Amino acid sequence: MSQKFHIVSPGRVNLLGEHVDKNDGKVLPAAIDRSIKLSAETRDDSLIKIKALDLAESVEIDLTKLDGKLDSAGSPLPSWAKYPAGVAWSLQTGGFATKGAEVEFTSNIPMGAGLSSSAAVEVAFAVLWQAMSGWSMDRLTLSQYCQKAEVEYAGVNCGLMDQFACANGVEGHAVLLDTRSLDFKSVPLPKNTSIVIADSTVRRSLQTSAYNDRVIDCQAAVAVAQKRNANVRSLRDVSVDELEDMKSKLSDGVYRHARHVVGEIERVEQAIHCLEIGDSNTFGKIMFDTHASLRDLYEVSCPELDALVEIASGFSGCIGARLTGAGFGGCTVNLVEQSKAEEFVQYLSEGYLRKTNLNAAVFVTHASRGAYVV
Ligand code: GLA
Repeated sequence: MSQKFHIVSPGRVNLLGEHVDKNDGKVLPAAIDRSIKLSAETRDDSLIKIKALDLAESVEIDLTKLDGKLDSAGSPLPSWAKYPAGVAWSLQTGGFATKGAEVEFTSNIPMGAGLSSSAAVEVAFAVLWQAMSGWSMDRLTLSQYCQKAEVEYAGVNCGLMDQFACANGVEGHAVLLDTRSLDFKSVPLPKNTSIVIADSTVRRSLQTSAYNDRVIDCQAAVAVAQKRNANVRSLRDVSVDELEDMKSKLSDGVYRHARHVVGEIERVEQAIHCLEIGDSNTFGKIMFDTHASLRDLYEVSCPELDALVEIASGFSGCIGARLTGAGFGGCTVNLVEQSKAEEFVQYLSEGYLRKTNLNAAVFVTHASRGAYVV
C-alpha cells in the first residue's frame, strides 16, 4: 500500500554574517514564511518522479543510478533536479535509504534571489526521505548532507548556512550558528522590529562562478597567513590588524575579499552583543556597514541592490538595510520599526521604481520554523 506525505520547507533570510560560512565565521539567518510545499506518494521501486509545478517540468530519476546525473532515459538532469538527486546521492553515501516516490512541489520563494530556494528544495527532499524511510537523524546532520549535495553534486562550493537555516529555523527567532564549532542557538529578533525583504528582481548569471572565485581568494589569503602563523586554519583566525600587516603579500583582489570576511566576522560579534543588550539601532548600523563592505570590498553587490539600500536609508523608521545571501542581484533585508513596516514597503517600492524603472517585490516576512512533515 502506498503512503502519502506532505512537507513544508522554508527559505531563509540572513540578517548578518555574509560570506563568512566558508571561513568558519558565525552567521545569523532566520527561516522565513515563504516555502516549498511538497506532496509525495511512495512507490515500490527505485524511481522518483518529480513534478516542479511552477516550472511545468517533470523528471524521472532512478535512485540506484545517480552518479551520472542523468534521468532514467539517459538525458542530463535539468539544473533544478540536481538538488533532489544530489540529496539522494548524498544520503546514500552515508548509508541512508532513499525510497522511490511520485512527488510534486510548488514554491513561493523567489528563485535565484538569495533566499535559498535551492536549499529549501534540498531540505524538503531530505525530510521526505527521512519520513518515508524511517531512519533518524538530527537536523544539523541533515543540513550537512544537503550541503554535501550542493557542493559535490550541484557544484556550488557553498557553506552550511542555508541548509542549516531551512532545517533548523525557529518561529519568531533568528538562529545563530557558529560554522566552526557548529554550536547553535535561537535568538529573539530585535524588539518591535519587522523584517522586510525587497527583491530587486535582478539576477546575475555568473553568480555561481563568482561565488566560487571569492572562496578561492579567501583560501589564498589563508595560505599567506599560514606562512606567518602555522596555527591559522581559516580567516576566523586572522584579525583585521593581522590582515593589514600582510597586505603587501596579497593581490589587491585577495586582500579586499579577505578584508570583508575578517571585518564581517568581527561585526557579527558586535551584533550578537547588541541583541543581548537590546540595542537595535547599533545592530541596524552594522547591517549598513555590512552592505558597504559587500559592495566595496567583497564586490558582490550591483547598482540595483545599492539603490534599494540607499533608498531604505532615507526612511526614518528603517534601522538597517543590506543585501542578503550571495549577492550579484537578488534581495535586500531591511530591519524596520514595526509600526512603520507597511509605510516602508510602499516607500521603498515607489522609490525603487522611480530610480530604476523596475518593480521590486517588497514584503514583510516573519521568522518561521524549519522544515516539517505536515
Ligand atoms: C550562499 C551560500 C551560503 C553563504 C551565502 C553568503 O547563500 O549558499 O553558504 O555563503 O551565500 O553568506
